[in-house]
Amino acid sequence: MTEPPFDAFRYAHEHRKEVVWMSQNTNHLVPPEIASAAIEEALRERRYEGYPFAPGLPELRDLVTADFGFSSDEAVQITSGGTEALYMLARALLSSGDEVIASDPSYLIIHKFVELSGSRTRNLEIYQPPFRLTSDAVRAAIGPKTRMILLIDPLNPLGSGYPESEVRAIAELAQDHKLWILNDVTYRDFAEHHTLARTFAPSETITVWSVSKNCGLAGLRLGGLAGPKELVQRIARYNTNDLGVNILAQVAAAATLRTKSRWLGSVLAQTRANQQRIRDVVATVPGTSLPVYPSQANMFVIDLAKAGVAPEELQKELLLKHGVFLRSGSYLSPKFGGQFIRASFSNPPKDIEAFAKAFPAAVATVRPRASAVARAS
Ligand SMILES: Cc1ncc(COP(=O)(O)O)c(C=O)c1O
Repeated sequence: MTEPPFDAFRYAHEHRKEVVWMSQNTNHLVPPEIASAAIEEALRERRYEGYPFAPGLPELRDLVTADFGFSSDEAVQITSGGTEALYMLARALLSSGDEVIASDPSYLIIHKFVELSGSRTRNLEIYQPPFRLTSDAVRAAIGPKTRMILLIDPLNPLGSGYPESEVRAIAELAQDHKLWILNDVTYRDFAEHHTLARTFAPSETITVWSVSKNCGLAGLRLGGLAGPKELVQRIARYNTNDLGVNILAQVAAAATLRTKSRWLGSVLAQTRANQQRIRDVVATVPGTSLPVYPSQANMFVIDLAKAGVAPEELQKELLLKHGVFLRSGSYLSPKFGGQFIRASFSNPPKDIEAFAKAFPAAVATVRPRASAVARAS
């Protein structure tokens, strides 16, 4: 009998109390009492017994509108995670034969949704400087079937961000060629500077947002999209949560967004200190390097190509022997996934110290194994 393949997520969830979670760009730095007080109050009031107000808590909608500066011509749709928004808009705006300009590496779940609607992504290779799309590359890739540009900013997994001039140039291309821009801004709050594509192409842009990463609420599954009112209505036809999104998630998101100015500064300071610490550790391990530094998000990739180490092997060694969970690249890149592992770092300092101990040791263990396999083959 052959052994079933190792399931890192099953293992990590089974050992979740011991595992250092640096694998999903989640945020473990937001003061936990903010969300828990809001959820406890909603539990005491037994708000879970009724359906929520279907369009979403008015306060939550207002907070999102104010946070992004959306105008009265724009609508906000609240969904069960940004993921549901991404699925809905792919269904609503794409059809068979359409093409979406995207990148490799990328957040590939979006590519999967594009494919489900019968379309395909045209993945521009960006695992080289500047490690993001450029307006020149996008312009060259536009063809008769192009319908959409996927602009994830900052970009998961690389951590690269777009300068305002490039956002403007891509927005102008979308206007000139009558294309949609899917502006996924899940990691916006981590960036030093950020420009929404809707600033330059308000009629063409659908902004997808989330409270999973900035607000540290990934397990509650809340996010949404926003755009011109008629466009949001068109997308909302594909809303499966017709009876509203989980009320506990909504009250927690409202409480966390309401207090954002109080806690965001310290989350960013710790996240930035952590990425410096990781950079210093990576610098001590021969053959490993950071393609993008500093990251504009709360993750980046560690390149392993010159270390001769397979990311899957390293992921397994880090998790099983050291209890540190990073994500191997194959999940994020068809072409370059064999070269890197992704680390996220909105974690308390003790987690980063666990990484600092584990990473050099795990690479040292996996490296001779990789060389032995290479010699034998
Ligand atoms: C670029 C990007 N968009 C969307 C999501 C999913 O967000 P949510 O948790 O709100 O569904 C992620 C999660 O990692 C992401 O990286």
